[in-house]
Amino acid sequence: MPTTNNQQLTTSIGIIGAGAMGAGIAQVAATAGHTVLVYDTNQTALDKAKVSLESTLKKLVEKQKLTEENAKGISTRTQFSSNLNDFKNCTAIIEAIVENLEVKQKLFVELESMVSADCILASNTSSLSIASIASACKKSDRVIGIHFFNPAPIMPLVEIIPAITTGEIITQSAKKLIDAWGKTTVLTKDTPGFIVNRVARSYYGESIRIYEEGMADFATIDWALKTYGGFKMGPFELMDFIGNDINFKVTESVWEQFFYEPRFKPSLTQKRLYEAKLFGRKSGRGYYNYAENAVMPNPTQDEVLGKSIFNRVIAMLINEAVDSLYLQLASVQDIDLAMTKGVNYPKGLLKWADELGLATVLTTLENLYAEYGEDRYRPCVLLKRMVKEKKSFYN
Ligand SMILES: NC(=O)c1ccc[n+]([C@@H]2O[C@H](COP(=O)([O-])OP(=O)(O)OC[C@H]3O[C@@H](n4cnc5c(N)ncnc54)[C@H](O)[C@@H]3O)[C@@H](O)[C@H]2O)c1
Repeated sequence: MPTTNNQQLTTSIGIIGAGAMGAGIAQVAATAGHTVLVYDTNQTALDKAKVSLESTLKKLVEKQKLTEENAKGISTRTQFSSNLNDFKNCTAIIEAIVENLEVKQKLFVELESMVSADCILASNTSSLSIASIASACKKSDRVIGIHFFNPAPIMPLVEIIPAITTGEIITQSAKKLIDAWGKTTVLTKDTPGFIVNRVARSYYGESIRIYEEGMADFATIDWALKTYGGFKMGPFELMDFIGNDINFKVTESVWEQFFYEPRFKPSLTQKRLYEAKLFGRKSGRGYYNYAENAVMPNPTQDEVLGKSIFNRVIAMLINEAVDSLYLQLASVQDIDLAMTKGVNYPKGLLKWADELGLATVLTTLENLYAEYGEDRYRPCVLLKRMVKEKKSFYN
C-alpha cells in the first residue's frame, strides 16, 4: 500500500495520459500529498479515469485501507484537465501516453514551451529510449525515464532511467520524489527493456523453447517453475495473464533494439498466438483455454524432468542478470530488487545464483552452449570470471 500523506504538498505533479498507467500514477502522487493534474486528449479517457479513481478510493475506505478524510483529500487534490496550459506551474510532469516516439516527442516539445525551466519532464515508456524522447527537447537535461509497473498503486518498483543527456541533479531529484511516494526505486541505464523487461525475457523465451523442443508441455513447464522455483505464476500462465500481444511486442522490441541479439529472439510459437489473436485471458484463449467449461491440462509431475526445466530456465535468467551487472546497468542490490519488486520473483537472481552456486549455473550454461552451439546459451564473461576467482555476488 502506498503511504498516505494527509498534508497537502505544495508541489504540483502533472500526468499526461489518463489510461491504465497515467490514472494509477496520478493516484500514487495524490496519495503522497501532491496536487495532481491529469490530462488526456480523449475526454472519455479523462472521465473514465475520474470515475475509476472515485470507485477505487471508495473500495479502499470500505477495506479500511484509507480513512474517509484521506480519500476525500486524494479526490480533491486530483484534477482533470483537457487544457495543457493548466500544467505550466507543475514541478514535475510524467507522461504515460501511447507508446509512439513521434507522438511522445511532439508532446515533450509542447510541454517544454509552457513549463518553467526547472520542471522535470519524465516518460513512463516501457520500450522507447529516453535519449530519443529527450532529443526533441531544447533542454534535454531535464528529461528522464520514470518507469512504473502495472498496476502503479500496487507494484512497489519504479525504474529511474537517466538518458545520456539527463542532468545529475534531475536524476537525484526524480529519485527523491518517487522515493517519497513510498516506492522502491532502482537507478538503471537507458538500455532496451531497462532491467525488468530485459532480464525477464528469459523466463518466457527459454520456457517456450523447452516447449518447442517437445521436452514438456505448457502445464508441465508451469508446474516445474512453480514447484522447484517458487515462482507465483508459471511462464505460460503469466504470458496469458499479461497478454500475448503485449508480451510478444515487448520481446520483439527488446530483440530489435539489441541489434538482434539471439538471447532475446522471439519465438514463432508466440508469434502465431499473436497472429491468431490468442492473447490469453482477455481473449478467452492463449496457451490455455479459458472458456467456461474448458478443462485445464494436468502437468506431468516428473521430478527429474521438472528439475531439469527449472535448472535450464533459472540459469538463463541468472545469466541475463549477471550480464546486466557486467554492463553496469545497476548494482547487485538494485538488479535483485528490480526482479523481486517489479515482477514478484521469489528471490533476487544474483542472490539465487550464490545459493545455487555460480559454478553450477555456469556448468548448466556451458552444457547448453556445447550441446546447441547457439549464441543464446553463451555464459556471460563476468560469470566465468567469478567462478574462476571463486567469488560470489554477496559477502
Ligand atoms: N500497461 C502497462 O503494463 C505499462 C507498464 C509500464 C509502462 N507502460 C507505458 O505507459 C504508457 C501508457 O501505457 P498505458 O497502458 O497506460 O496506455 P493506455 O492505452 O491505457 O493509455 C494511454 C492514454 O494516452 C492517451 N493519449 C494518447 N495520445 C495522447 C496525447 N498525444 N496526449 C495526451 N494523451 C494521449 C490515450 O487517450 C489514452 O487514454 C506507454 O508508454 C506504455 O509503454 C505501460
